[in-house]
Amino acid sequence: MTHTHDRLLIIDFGSQVTQLIARRLRELSVYCEIHPYQKVTDAFLAEFAPKAIIFSGGPDSVTREGSPRPPKAAFTMGVPILGICYGQQVMMQELGGLVESGHGTAEFGRAFVTPTESKLSILEGWFAEGREQVWMSHGDHVSRIAPGFEVYGTSPGAPFAITADVSRHFYAVQFHPEVHHTPKGAKLYENFVRLAGFTGDWTMGAYKDDAIEKIRAQVGDGHVICGLSGGVDSSVAAILIHEAIGDQLTCVFVDHGLLRQNEAEQVVTMFRDNYNIKLIHADESELFLGALEGVSDPEVKRKTIGKLFIDVFQKYANEIEGAEFLAQGTLYPDVIESVSFSGGPSVTIKSHHNVGGLPEKMGLKLVEPLRELFKDEVRALGRELGLPDSFIGRHPFPGPGLAIRCPGEISREKLEILRKADAVFIDQIRKHGLYDEIWQAFVAILPVRTVGVMGDGRTYDYACALRAVTSVDGMTADYYPFTHEFLGETATRIINEVKGINRCTYDITSKPPGTIEWE
Ligand code: XMP
Repeated sequence: MTHTHDRLLIIDFGSQVTQLIARRLRELSVYCEIHPYQKVTDAFLAEFAPKAIIFSGGPDSVTREGSPRPPKAAFTMGVPILGICYGQQVMMQELGGLVESGHGTAEFGRAFVTPTESKLSILEGWFAEGREQVWMSHGDHVSRIAPGFEVYGTSPGAPFAITADVSRHFYAVQFHPEVHHTPKGAKLYENFVRLAGFTGDWTMGAYKDDAIEKIRAQVGDGHVICGLSGGVDSSVAAILIHEAIGDQLTCVFVDHGLLRQNEAEQVVTMFRDNYNIKLIHADESELFLGALEGVSDPEVKRKTIGKLFIDVFQKYANEIEGAEFLAQGTLYPDVIESVSFSGGPSVTIKSHHNVGGLPEKMGLKLVEPLRELFKDEVRALGRELGLPDSFIGRHPFPGPGLAIRCPGEISREKLEILRKADAVFIDQIRKHGLYDEIWQAFVAILPVRTVGVMGDGRTYDYACALRAVTSVDGMTADYYPFTHEFLGETATRIINEVKGINRCTYDITSKPPGTIEWE
């Protein structure tokens, strides 16, 4: 099989930071895929046809009998290999060196590597100040390098911190060049891929053209349906598919009555009016709000919404004649098969729901044009497709919508108050130029009424909480440090402009121990 782009293979030995290697390479416009070591057989290697290979780090010890190994064929394909941490050790072990545990040479965290006399091309740009900061995380260490290898850098705990067999283009480093604490790490990757002959052909423009071709080839004259949430992923998927097959695409936007102010209208205008995409606006708010009446438990709320969402989507999908394909905004991080050593089930904190989770049992074939992309690449593709920045930069919004920002029982009255307060808060954030600095911001309406005084009268209204966080991926988060002036001005505006709220608090909980949403 021929491949359109130069391909780099990352063999994953289970490091926590393997995905970062892929990120660094994608930033260099290099196409790469991560695959767990168990899957990388000789036949897999031949089919994948990598132009270079990277061995990731990993938690195991190569001194342990039965620990992970790369296939022998990797060393005889004639392509450059870079081994990182465990990847370095396994390379040494396989090629005739020696790795040992302990002896007080474990290093965790910041370390400094100094160069030896010899120069190495992948270290071009390094050691301008005599030594270079790197990030180490190893218990074992290489005690004898393999025949053909030479040392190019040492650290106090790793006498063989950087080694290479230049004639075979095998490079091995003990530290992690992919993390931010190795400031010149990106340069090392850049040197490595340049040496391997990558031309940087993985651009969004090229990706878009390829993806359109692939969609056309897959779909033929079939019909595709796509669930739209108004979020970036499903929107970019829909617009890309529409460019490929036009009217053979129908989108379904399920309005569960738990959207923000004017949100349904914005989504419909954007897709139907601006993009001329066939769109069914399924206004099922009565159904959802009816089913949620009297429900106060967060998990029951989430499950009720998730189940109804699928039922409703299926109902509309069934009405679309000849639908054969279901489009999903699946991203690369959802696809990577992770190497699991513990294998234990993790605890469910919240039952997530989103349009990407529509069931495969609907009997439709899947079209997943974003499967190879990371989130920031989806945004870049969105820009390539002409989506406005204001849309691409939108904060994430959860599938269950305002239901989980209204702790306790939901009512139409509370939802209406919440929508208004939320709109004022976001308006304030935009006016102060803070929207893009904040990862997510919203208001939660609290299930308590408090006493206040407005004018000369007593009020007895709801309290609300403002929530604004910084985060990279939503897994951890910190509260945003607004100024007191900003908070004061916002509270005053909400209480003055939103009937039904007479008290405003700011949630300063980080995640963990809190979560971003209130439920
Ligand atoms: P938590 O509250 O778990 O939220 O800290 C982390 C991020 O996930 C979003 N979120 C969801 N997104 N379906 C989604 O698509 C869901 O069911 C869901 N629940 C939470 C939340 O808004 C935050 O960005």
